Amino acid sequence: MTTIAEVRARFRDDPIRRDVDLLLADITGKPTAWVFAHGDEAVDPRIEALIQRRLAGEPLQYIRGRTEFYSREFYVDDRALIPRPETEILVETVIQQSPRGARVIDIGSGSGCISVTLALERADLRVFAFDASIAALAVTRRNRDAHRATVRLAASDVLDAASARFDVIVSNPPYIPASDVETLATEVRDHEPHMALTPGREGTEVIERIYASARGARVFLEIGYGQAEAVRRIAQSHGYRVDGIVRDLAGIERVVISSPHG
Ligand SMILES: C[S@@+](CC[C@H](N)C(=O)[O-])C[C@H]1O[C@@H](n2cnc3c(N)ncnc32)[C@H](O)[C@@H]1O
Repeated sequence: MTTIAEVRARFRDDPIRRDVDLLLADITGKPTAWVFAHGDEAVDPRIEALIQRRLAGEPLQYIRGRTEFYSREFYVDDRALIPRPETEILVETVIQQSPRGARVIDIGSGSGCISVTLALERADLRVFAFDASIAALAVTRRNRDAHRATVRLAASDVLDAASARFDVIVSNPPYIPASDVETLATEVRDHEPHMALTPGREGTEVIERIYASARGARVFLEIGYGQAEAVRRIAQSHGYRVDGIVRDLAGIERVVISSPHG
């Protein structure tokens, strides 16, 4: 029999010690405060397999099967990108700036964190979630259903499945240049879907295709570090102007707001 205190002692000086505490909380079904106060309790031996996964570099969120986004819990697994805090800035911007009753398409919905949050925060919007990955779309569906959000789903390469008119496009597209993927942390590089990370050599390939098919809708995009100028040029080449750029908490230009000229 292994006790909670024995497991915690093994990781006292380890960078994953907080993750171990959370996994102990999950497996006991108690809050971490309870874990700290009950070191003498026996722990389910299945904790070892969970810790081994974390030691092998798997993100904590995939092991726990959940993460938080915009103060709500989202199911996650390795079919979809783990929602990032920066993406809350994109969602906040769209919540504030979408016209009443707008038809909104989220391109590359992944976990559904953007589309589900928009549908819940702005019940007047008609929200669609598109993803080219059927596997990712299954995660969107699971979160949509768990939150009882009204979001219509479609498997779609960029906007190919959009038949009707739409007013707003929102996307956190894959934007990492292919050659940068090797430099990412193992948690990201070896565990998150490659298709969610990079669209190709430049990093802007999906962004270019979004503007090429945006048909006059307002476009709200999350972008990568140092991409603002390239995105501005792409937008202009497709008859769009950049109305504003929102920086993230680190001061990095993160969200591009754009609309068609004229
Ligand atoms: C960076 S992830 C964003 C996921 C989620 N929206 C979020 O913000 O956490 C990009 C998503 O775009 C999808 N994707 C990649 N290429 C695509 C394409 N050509 N058309 C539609 N979706 C695409 C990926 O499958 C992935 O789910």
